[in-house]
Amino acid sequence: MQNKITKAIFPVAGLGTRFLPATKSIPKEIMSLVDRPLIQYAIDEARAAGIKEFIFVTSRGKSALEDYFDHAPHLEAELKKKGKDDLLEELKKTVMDSGRIAYIRQQKPLGLGHAVWCARRLIGDEPFAVILPDDIIAAEKPCLQQMVEAFEENPGNMVAAMEVPADRAHAYGILDVKEDMGSLVSVKGMVEKPKPGTQPSNLAVIGRYLLTPQILENLEAKETGAGGEIQLTDAIAHEITEGRDVFGFRFNGQRFDCGSKSGYLQATVSFALSRPELRDDLMEFLQTVVNMDQAAQ
Ligand code: UTP
Repeated sequence: MQNKITKAIFPVAGLGTRFLPATKSIPKEIMSLVDRPLIQYAIDEARAAGIKEFIFVTSRGKSALEDYFDHAPHLEAELKKKGKDDLLEELKKTVMDSGRIAYIRQQKPLGLGHAVWCARRLIGDEPFAVILPDDIIAAEKPCLQQMVEAFEENPGNMVAAMEVPADRAHAYGILDVKEDMGSLVSVKGMVEKPKPGTQPSNLAVIGRYLLTPQILENLEAKETGAGGEIQLTDAIAHEITEGRDVFGFRFNGQRFDCGSKSGYLQATVSFALSRPELRDDLMEFLQTVVNMDQAAQ
């Protein structure tokens, strides 16, 4: 098995029910933070980590996503005519090279593990990355790049990990830690969405994974787990029972759960504040809102 990771799977076939009715006709991944859709952040992160092949697991109603990665001849011609070169440059970054992007349909939303399994023929016998675009990570060095560097030294299944408050552990896959080595932890078990109070640690799995091809074979069993779904966590945990390495990686960066309304709003504010042209106005507005809210209490 080669150690270099050049392929990434982007599972985007979920229903996005937490954002209904918006997601009735707009894929969650096309929703924007300021002026860039969530999926663009995920693609940029993958590119920075050396990913060359981008595999999307999609479902019905996601054609806006395919269009986003394509040329927009009419728009491009219009921008050219008006001399808007900076916008043309921005648009160029959204177009994916032919043959470097593939779309696979997940016909039923049977779970994240199933979505990853759907891409098995395009992965073959190579380690690969999985990126969940609704987990946005603001970091100086992009999270996946941090992980790829750690993987080169410690080849083995690796999941991004983050401390969460004990009363939120039930919403995540949680690691049972064998040895804590600082940014890297070796793992002796994983539980998806543990019942409150039963979590083996406060270290939660976040939506970035580097996986060995054996995971795809584990997913062949199509066993359902938490929530009646085929869970990726279970297929990774199976590796531990087979005596193979699984690591958690404590990344540097701030993660926003953009699959939830509150996380999405926080990310919007945070990303807007990081833009010099927006910062002052927004800060002033936020201060006014806080002052008015405090005065009203
Ligand atoms: P979520 O748990 O956030 O589910 O999936 P969701 O459907 O996107 O959103 P809600 O909970 O209904 O609001 C995590 C990731 O796994 C993908 C999703 O698209 C998302 O990127 N996924 C989930 C699939 O591709 N297929 C599935 O069957 C389930």
